[in-house]
Amino acid sequence: MDRRHAVKWAAAAVVAAMAGGAAAQTGSIKVGFMLPYTGTYAALGTAIENGFRLYVGEQGGTLGGQKIEFVRVDDESDPSKATDNVNKLIKRDQVDVVVGTVHSGVAMAMAKVARDSGALLIVPNAGADAVTGPMCAPNIFRTSFSNWQPGYAMGEVMAKRGHKTAVTITWKYAAGDESVNGFKESFTKGGGKIVKDLTVPFPTVEFQSLLTEIASLKPDAVYTFFAGGGAVKFVKDYAAAGLGKSIPLYGAGFLTDGTLEAQGDAAQGLLTTLHYADGLDNPRDKAFRLGYAKAYKLQPDVYAVQGYDAAQLLGVGLAAVKGDKGKRDAMYAAMAKARIDSPRGAFTLSKSHNPVQNIYLRKVEGKVNQVQSVAIKALADPGRGCRM
Ligand code: PHB
Repeated sequence: MDRRHAVKWAAAAVVAAMAGGAAAQTGSIKVGFMLPYTGTYAALGTAIENGFRLYVGEQGGTLGGQKIEFVRVDDESDPSKATDNVNKLIKRDQVDVVVGTVHSGVAMAMAKVARDSGALLIVPNAGADAVTGPMCAPNIFRTSFSNWQPGYAMGEVMAKRGHKTAVTITWKYAAGDESVNGFKESFTKGGGKIVKDLTVPFPTVEFQSLLTEIASLKPDAVYTFFAGGGAVKFVKDYAAAGLGKSIPLYGAGFLTDGTLEAQGDAAQGLLTTLHYADGLDNPRDKAFRLGYAKAYKLQPDVYAVQGYDAAQLLGVGLAAVKGDKGKRDAMYAAMAKARIDSPRGAFTLSKSHNPVQNIYLRKVEGKVNQVQSVAIKALADPGRGCRM
């Protein structure tokens, strides 16, 4: 940090401390949601906020004895606006914790600000490997996954299923690249060969020429990362191109999570890997699903789970300091050691603050991603480059 920045941040810290003092008197914690509420990831942002609010609601609207207040900003999944947006929450709104976001490129900009300012950041989706890798920090936590995790699990699954060659197709940005890298790492270790990596710019959904290319390349199988509105379009286009019958499609589970209603017949039978699934036989999940359906008249998805768990993690930290948010070190130490009783199954955090969790193999059956097996038990992201 240069001197000018240091002075600026010191001034901001004084203002924050004064505002923090005022909030402590009224006994409240301000949560700033920075999520996409428009664009291809809009539904994901809403599910995360819903999940977070559900847990806080179940605790009577308080965590660690403090009333929880919310402010929100629509990040539009636009990395170029990310630094301004997160600064609005930290400096203008004086939030105590930033909860966001979905898009990896936006999340990396948020993590940079969190590292420089010391603000508490809980990432409830974006898988950017760097956030719990080179950018890791005591004040940065993730309750979702790293992009590497589901991809790595699927590479193993596809190799074991006897596929020898694969084409990958994804959006050209961190999440797509890293998901594909995770897949390739284990697929090639298992004897598989990559025929070609295909990409489209985010958030483009013009897949036609690439689907034609896949048909002519004739790989044994295709691995993909798409999510939200883009995943709906991709799965439908893949089926409409007639590829489903000849070249099986696999993906990170975002491909079919929160999307099945819109994908309909085109998604039937798809196999994906993810840290959540339908049909998990655990009481925590059953209670969560009932509560979510009752509150929102909707079935929850992986994004809702991640938001719910972000609130649980914050709750662990605040409980440890009896709501005294000034005790940051003690709060972060408790969060780092937390065992979260998640609807996905209990998880702990790795040294770099990423969930160590089961990755499930799921199959689309009707409107659900039915669990088939645990693809990899308690998978930890390697956290490459993290020094904390
Ligand atoms: C990401 O950009 O990291 C990302 C976005 C949507 C998902 C998963 C990951 O469903």
